[in-house]
Amino acid sequence: MTFPHEDLARFAQAILERSGTPPDKAHLVAISLVASNLRGVDSHGLQLLPYYLEQMRIGNIRVEADGHAISENGACLLFDGERAFGQHVAAACSDHAVRLCREHGLGMVVARESNHYGAAAYWSQRIADAGCIGITACNASSLVAPWQGKEPRFGTNPISMALPGAKRWLLDMATTTVAMNKIVNASLSGRETIPAGWAMDAEGNPTTSTEVALKGLLMPLGGYKGSGLAMMVEILCAVLSGGAMSTELGGVFNRTRPMRTSQMFLAIDASRYLPLEEFGERMARLVGMAKSSAPAQGYDEVMVAGDPEWRIEERRRRDGVPLSDGAWKALSEAAAALNIPLPAVR
Ligand SMILES: NC(=O)c1ccc[n+]([C@@H]2O[C@H](COP(=O)([O-])OP(=O)(O)OC[C@H]3O[C@@H](n4cnc5c(N)ncnc54)[C@H](O)[C@@H]3O)[C@@H](O)[C@H]2O)c1
Repeated sequence: MTFPHEDLARFAQAILERSGTPPDKAHLVAISLVASNLRGVDSHGLQLLPYYLEQMRIGNIRVEADGHAISENGACLLFDGERAFGQHVAAACSDHAVRLCREHGLGMVVARESNHYGAAAYWSQRIADAGCIGITACNASSLVAPWQGKEPRFGTNPISMALPGAKRWLLDMATTTVAMNKIVNASLSGRETIPAGWAMDAEGNPTTSTEVALKGLLMPLGGYKGSGLAMMVEILCAVLSGGAMSTELGGVFNRTRPMRTSQMFLAIDASRYLPLEEFGERMARLVGMAKSSAPAQGYDEVMVAGDPEWRIEERRRRDGVPLSDGAWKALSEAAAALNIPLPAVR
């Protein structure tokens, strides 16, 4: 089923508001989730909303909370999210990072006691839209064993970096082979198998079964290097912020305790290093150098980070956003319970 993205955003906002979210926060959460659908990252789009509603209902997401700055020292700011919506915390912290960057050339904010903030790219892009290089990362519920282990100790701990400008190079990646929500998405879409290399069973054996993977472990990206990256994210986000680390986190699918995620937002003013025009030219040259490679067998071009999503976004803005049957069922049920009319299918 496919819907115009504006209708989906209004629909999601109505559900959030009727569930007690103040309108400004409901708007932010709705448009950031739909933005992920628009980019083709359905794992971090509206399929998350029913889980957020549950987290709100049990009080893990505090809809009225705003969070506050604990300390500010030069280019460094520490933020307490007070278990507010992760998107609300992320917007505030991204904006603080940009403010500090304008003053100091760099601004870095770390937040503790936040919640799930959706796709990391939304926040690196928010910083990039303000003219800075934007980098963000966060920790997440432990679903990944450290390399050579079989018990979960790390989250899918994503990293994203965005640059100012249109259709820019834009990296947004979990430090596992894929994000957990891609396996949830496979399940909601009725796909019984997932590609090899995505997940392991609870004993640490590789699996391609969607159901086994849901109860098992995610595969760190590139073996021990992914474990190293996941730990780097834990250090920059959680160790530095004084927040929950590793197994101390809850999770978006966990009803037993608050998520307590930590996040990092870094803004860099490229013009403090070289004129912005030159930065843009050098970036274009670098992308050109990467793309000048002859494609390997089975491919007809070389892409760089961001290319697949910009193409999908162009298509979905024009043709609408498809939702999986599972995601649509959960959203329709939530809407029915709240007496919210469903958007018209395109
Ligand atoms: N909030 C959280 O707790 C959390 C946790 C984990 C992941 N996530 C989100 O999950 C989403 C999906 O993450 P993922 O790792 O599964 O993404 P992915 O593997 O689909 O893409 C990762 C990166 O690779 C690039 N890419 C893809 N194909 C390419 C190609 N052929 N050539 C060059 N570059 C290519 C993409 O542009 C992207 O930047 C992200 O938005 C991430 O922020 C969020």
